[in-house]
Order: sequence, then structure tokens, then C-alpha cells
Amino acid sequence: MIKTPATLLIVFSAFIISLVTLGCRTVSEFPAASDKYRLVWNDDPTTSITIAWDQHEKAEPTVMYGTKDKGRKHWKYKFTKPADRILDKYEMKTHFAKLSNLKSDKSYYFVIKDQKGVSERFWFRTAPNRPKAFTFIAGGDTKSEDGPLEAGRASNRLVSKLRPLFVMFNGDFCSGNGTVPDRWHTWLRDWQELTTTEDGRMIPIFPVHGNHENGDHANLNYIFNAPYQESDSAKIYYSLSLGGGFFHIMALNSSVDEGGSQRDWLENDLKRHEHYTFKIAGYHKPFWPHTSRKAENPYQYNQWAHLFYRYHLNISMDGDSHMSKITYPLRPDSSAAGSYMGYVRDDKDGTMFLGEGSWGAFPRANDDDKPWTIKSFEGNQIKWIHVLPSGENLPDRMSIYTVVSCTYDENEKQTLYDAEVESLTEDNMFKIPDNIKLVENGLYGFEIKYPFSLNQVVTKN
Ligand SMILES: [Fe+2]
Repeated sequence: MIKTPATLLIVFSAFIISLVTLGCRTVSEFPAASDKYRLVWNDDPTTSITIAWDQHEKAEPTVMYGTKDKGRKHWKYKFTKPADRILDKYEMKTHFAKLSNLKSDKSYYFVIKDQKGVSERFWFRTAPNRPKAFTFIAGGDTKSEDGPLEAGRASNRLVSKLRPLFVMFNGDFCSGNGTVPDRWHTWLRDWQELTTTEDGRMIPIFPVHGNHENGDHANLNYIFNAPYQESDSAKIYYSLSLGGGFFHIMALNSSVDEGGSQRDWLENDLKRHEHYTFKIAGYHKPFWPHTSRKAENPYQYNQWAHLFYRYHLNISMDGDSHMSKITYPLRPDSSAAGSYMGYVRDDKDGTMFLGEGSWGAFPRANDDDKPWTIKSFEGNQIKWIHVLPSGENLPDRMSIYTVVSCTYDENEKQTLYDAEVESLTEDNMFKIPDNIKLVENGLYGFEIKYPFSLNQVVTKN
């Protein structure tokens, strides 16, 4: 057969088409037209997760994901999911894609692909649906400028080194009232870049509303698609569970009425989850701050304290004061001997109060300790909590560590403590990393255990 130019062209075209159909595709050299990727827990974390990002150009973005790591080869992932919600807010085109029907306690890998290119490959773990050991980090209060911004970044880097299952962030994300676009951009970029582990594991956030979000009470819904109650986006309080009756966490809101419908919601939620092994509440303002610079909040105490006790809340996490505290387990009882500020120590049935929010904000003096304070501390810190199911003759329990990220000397010279801290791996996530700086809790050493009866006084030589 005589091969004319036309037939040669046809043969060549067929060859190219067959190459493509045989799967000879190359990974895009180009990044996706998006950034500020973050993962959010706002529903059942054993079967779902929300991926959020800022899309710069209209380019039909899609999450490509699966349980096998395919790197940036987006076409090899088993599942796809476009955004469920797109929001034009604070100079961002925020996209939310909720992945559902996930398997519990599993690694998932994903990229975000659009017409411009492909994102980095990230991954995450879904929460277990049976009692299983994990760690989480709690803290709050970041600022948008100068030394406090850098201190917050040091805390962020500690998250990546400790690789917890999730972070409870107890409010106050940016300086001001939470409506300045640049500040959110900085916060979100930092969060992605600094809290993600070296191998691309992203740590989901469980966000809590603080007073620096009060410029718009729906802020956490705009940024994280946080749930709200009664069809009112100002009422951002909600809860999640994991571990099949093992662990329940609540995000309360101290910037709206703590009584009324929020109190009703809290009682209902505590009642429904009373049988859970551990119940943890996060909110921003403490009842009784450990610095004299902050006002007491008796109304909040009156609305919540008795419910916490009645339904056996194990741990309460607050923020706002820009310092650290850990209390003994407390029972609300104004008439008991030794009662102070309406609380008396009750090692068996009380709630331990942890706080008070110095992820990055400049620390305040810890000048308002109570008779039931175990330890307060002036410095930047996050709480690292190991949650451990019963076994080997030990009960269900938690270990609480206060991890220092930054301190200041008398001339306000800053020292950061993250750089030399060992990065934990998937195989040693419960190890105390080399070179980590922990707060020593007086009589009890670096670790405070819950239930409190497990603690022993540490004797020093
Ligand atoms: Fe605050």
C-alpha cells in the first residue's frame, strides 16, 4: 500500500490516541489555581471530613481521593467530589467539599485538580469508631502581627511535629474583630503550611468561636463551614463523637447568650451523650480567669457549671486570657467547706478545667490562682492530650501535657521552642519527643492524668 501523507497522518494520530487511552499520562507540572487548604471536623469524623480551600480562578476544581496514595496522579484516585458550597467572603472564593461515607480509622489521600493544574498530595486519617488510643491538641488565641504572630507559628509547627488526630481551636483566630481579609489569609496560609506534617498529613481543626470573631458571629461558618443551631448562623455551637461511645467533644459559644437556647442545647447534648466514656467541652471565655486582667464570668458559671457536673463532663477547655492553667477536678458547690468561687475540689466526680489560650497572643501575668489550681503559667503553650482506652490493668484515661512554644524575658525578648523538637512519626505518636519543653505541674511532674486518682506526687532527689 502506498503511504500518502494523509494516511501517515491518520496512523500517527491513531498512535497518539492509543497512547492516551492506554494511560500514558503525565503528572501536571502546574499547581492548581487554589491555596489555603484546610480540613475541618464539622460532622461525624469517623465517616466524613470537609476539605476547604480558596479558589483563585474559575477552573472547575474537584477533590480526587482514595485510600491508596497515588501522589499527584489525579486520574488514579477512585473517588471524586466537587465543592458542595462556594462562598465569596473576605476576598476569598472559599470552596467546601464534604467527603462522606468514608471508612473509619483509615488513611485517605487526596489532591485538588482544576483546569489549571493539580495541588500537592495531602492525606488525613478518619477517626476510629471504636475505643482506640489517639492524641489531640487544644488551645486558642492567635494574633496577626509581630512577635505574637511568630509565637503562634511556633505553636503551629508543634502541631505538625506532634501529629495529633485533630486540633480543638478555642477561638480568637485573628487580631481585631474577625472581618479583616488579609488577617484570615495569613492565618489560613500559616495553618496549612505549618501544621501539615512533613509527609503531607493534614490535621483537621474543630473550631470554637471566640470574641475576636464577633465582627460577624457567622465567621466560623464562612471559614470552616462550622455548624450552627436553630437555623441561626450566629449560634455556632455543636458537637461530634468518635470511638463508638468513647469520646464526645462539644464546641460551646461564650459570645452569645450562654443561657436560654444554648443552655437547653448543652443540657440536651450532655444528656444524650452521658454514657460516653469521655466528654470534653471547648469554649472561649473561662468562668474564673487566672489573670487579674480579665473579668470574672459569673453568668456563664451559673448557666453551665451545674450541667457540667450533673452530666459528668470530664474536661473543660477554655482560652481568652493568654496564659496557661490546669485545675484539680472541680464540683460546683458554694456551701461546701473550702469552696472558692463556687467550686470545691472533687477528685472523683469533678471536671478538670484546662486553658487559658496562649497559642500565640502575648502572655498575661498568671496572677490570679485559686485554691484549686494545680498550675498556672505565663507563656505561649498548647495542651497535648493522650486519650487511652482501658487495658493492661489501667482504666480509660487521659494524659495532659502543656507544651511551651514561646516565652519572653523581662525585656520582652522572645524565645521560641519548636525548632529542636523531634518530629513524631506514624509509629511513635505517643512518645514524648526529644527536646520538647513541657510545663512542670508542681507536685505532679510534667504529666497530669485523668482520672485524677492515677496521679502520684513526684518526689525529687
Ligand atoms: Fe478572647
